[in-house]
Amino acid sequence: MRVLSGTQPTGQLHLGNYFGALQQYLALQERYEETLFFIADYHSMTSLRGASERRRLTRDVALDYLACGLDPARAILFRQSDVPEVCELAWLLSTVTPMGLLERGHAYKDKVAQGVPADHGLFAYPVLMAADILLYHSDLVPVGQDQKQHLEMARDMAQRFNHAYACEVLKLPEPHILEGVAVVPGTDGRKMSKSYGNTIPMFAPASEIKKAVMRIVTDSTPVEEPKDPAATVFQLWNLFADADERRAMAERAKQGGLGYGEVKKDLLARLAEHFAPLRERRERYEARPEEVEEILVEGALRARALGRPVLAAARDAAGLGPPRP
Ligand code: TRP
Repeated sequence: MRVLSGTQPTGQLHLGNYFGALQQYLALQERYEETLFFIADYHSMTSLRGASERRRLTRDVALDYLACGLDPARAILFRQSDVPEVCELAWLLSTVTPMGLLERGHAYKDKVAQGVPADHGLFAYPVLMAADILLYHSDLVPVGQDQKQHLEMARDMAQRFNHAYACEVLKLPEPHILEGVAVVPGTDGRKMSKSYGNTIPMFAPASEIKKAVMRIVTDSTPVEEPKDPAATVFQLWNLFADADERRAMAERAKQGGLGYGEVKKDLLARLAEHFAPLRERRERYEARPEEVEEILVEGALRARALGRPVLAAARDAAGLGPPRP
C-alpha cells in the first residue's frame, strides 16, 4: 500500500494541524510500507506571490514535520517542485478534464463568488493535485473533509485518461478521510483554522502562545458558579489530559469554584511540557539547514524513482515520444 498526502506551505503549524493531520501521518508512517508526504509549493503559487516567503514557508513545513516525528528513514518527505514530472502529467490530465468538472470546484467557485479574479492556476488546481496523486500510483490519500471533492476529481481524471487511451496506466486512489480525529476548536470556539485567525501556534515564541491561550473565549460565569465542561477552554485542555484527568476536571467544572484563568494557566503549562521535546528537535534541525535540505533532496530522488515509470507509461499510452521498441 502506498500512502500519499500533501500540505500547502501556508504558515505556522497549530494545534488543529497537529491533532488533525499530523498525528494521523505519524500513525500511517508506522503502519504502511511506503508513505509519501510532500510540501505543495507549486500549489502555493495560486495564493502566494512572495518568492522568499515561499522558500521560508516551505522550509518551515519540513522543520515542523521533522520536529513532530516524521521519520525520513521511513517516510518520503519532499518538495513537490523537486519532481517537475508532476507538471507534465498535469498537462496530460488537463486534456481529458472537462471544463464543467473544474467549474464545479469549491475553491474556484468560492473565489469567483467573492468577486476575486481567479487565474488559470487556481482553476486548474485540482488537475495538479490529481497529478500529485496519480504520478505515484497512490493507493491511499489521507485528507481532511475539505479535500474530498478534489479526490473524487482525481479518480474521475484517472478514469477518463485510462478510457481515452484504452489503458490501465493510472491507478484509482482511495480517499482516506480523516474523521473521528479530535475536533480542535479555535480560541473563538469555531474550528481552529488559520483563515479564522483563531489558532494556537505550536512552535511560536512562548509569549505568542500565551497570548493565544488568554484569548480563548469564556463566558462571564463567576468563579464560584458551575461551568459548562464542554466549553472551548475545557475542550482544548482535554487534548492534553488523560481520561481520569478529564473526568476530574469535568467534576470540578460542574461543582463551581473553578476559574477559567486557572484552566488556561494549566493548559499553558501542559502545552509547554507536551511540545518541549518537539521544540527541541525542531531547533536541532533548524541549526542544520544542510541536513534538512539533504532529507528533501533524498526524498525527491525516491519520489522521482516512483513517478518516472508512471509518467513514461502515460506518455507512451498517449502516443508521445518515439515508439517503444
Ligand atoms: N490541496 C491540498 C490542501 O490544500 C494539498 C495537496 C496538494 C494535496 N496536492 C495534494 C493533498 C495531493 C493530498 C494529495 O490541503
